[in-house]
Amino acid sequence: MVATKSPYYRAIGKEEEVFRSAYKCKLPLLLKGPTGCGKTRLVEKMANELSTRLVQVVCNEDTSATDLLGRYLLKGGDTIWQEGPVTRAVREGHFLYLDEIAEAREDVVVLLHSLSDHRRQLFLDRSHESIAAPDAFQLIISFNPGYQTRMRRLKPSTRQRFVSLELSYPPVEIETEILAAETGANLSLCKSLAQLALRIRNMSELQLDETVSTRLLVNTALLIKQGLAPRLSADVGIVQALTDDLEVAQPLKDLVSLHL
Ligand SMILES: Nc1ncnc2c1ncn2[C@@H]1O[C@H](COP(=O)(O)OP(=O)(O)OP(=O)(O)O)[C@@H](O)[C@H]1O
Ligand SMILES: [Mg+2]
Repeated sequence: MVATKSPYYRAIGKEEEVFRSAYKCKLPLLLKGPTGCGKTRLVEKMANELSTRLVQVVCNEDTSATDLLGRYLLKGGDTIWQEGPVTRAVREGHFLYLDEIAEAREDVVVLLHSLSDHRRQLFLDRSHESIAAPDAFQLIISFNPGYQTRMRRLKPSTRQRFVSLELSYPPVEIETEILAAETGANLSLCKSLAQLALRIRNMSELQLDETVSTRLLVNTALLIKQGLAPRLSADVGIVQALTDDLEVAQPLKDLVSLHL
């Protein structure tokens, strides 16, 4: 759906500029960055700005090319073609956002090759058809580099087809602004949460799988604004979301007490 109201996205660097240029050059984009840092929101904002529909697919290890392209189904004795989200996005010229692409099966990555280079074509083996992407079509894929040690990596032949944009968590001033805009909570609370996040992000000795995201701060600010006690909000909104280990939770709780 093309949203009428522009989604709120606060740029942290030149990501919007890069996005617009890639779109004009018909180059596919790879967004890399940790969870909850604004990747999806950026894509939503740009789709709205460029008046394009957004088709989003979150990939997992079971995601196959057939799921994305489409499949023949038997219906009342007839065989009908059920179009998949990728085929539809290419045919109709939408934004196609494939989230967590590194998790998908190899055949998904392969199908992207002709779509992500100068050919801009999708080959449908089953119907022996080739669809040329209209100018408006934009392919965006994302992955979270933090997971990469445990998971398959994208091959260089895939990576090098994409303009790569790295996103990360914003500095305190900008994160404060985002929290205030997203939640309507007062500025001093938003600033305290952003400062708390900075401290947690700098505590590499905690060896968290993922550190505190802007998403967790938004959730916590909402709980506090709604009337839940600030430290309890941060415990359920941040600490418990980051770890199940008591020895890790304690220093996090201590930090929360310092800031809230
Ligand atoms: N730059 C930003 N501008 C506005 N809101 C932001 C920004 N960054 C993060 N947010 C807030 O954080 C939330 C999470 O952002 P988003 O869903 O875009 O993260 P993501 O990078 O796509 O995460 P994931 O990898 O888990 O899908 C948003 O719903 C929004 O409230
Ligand atoms: Mg996302």
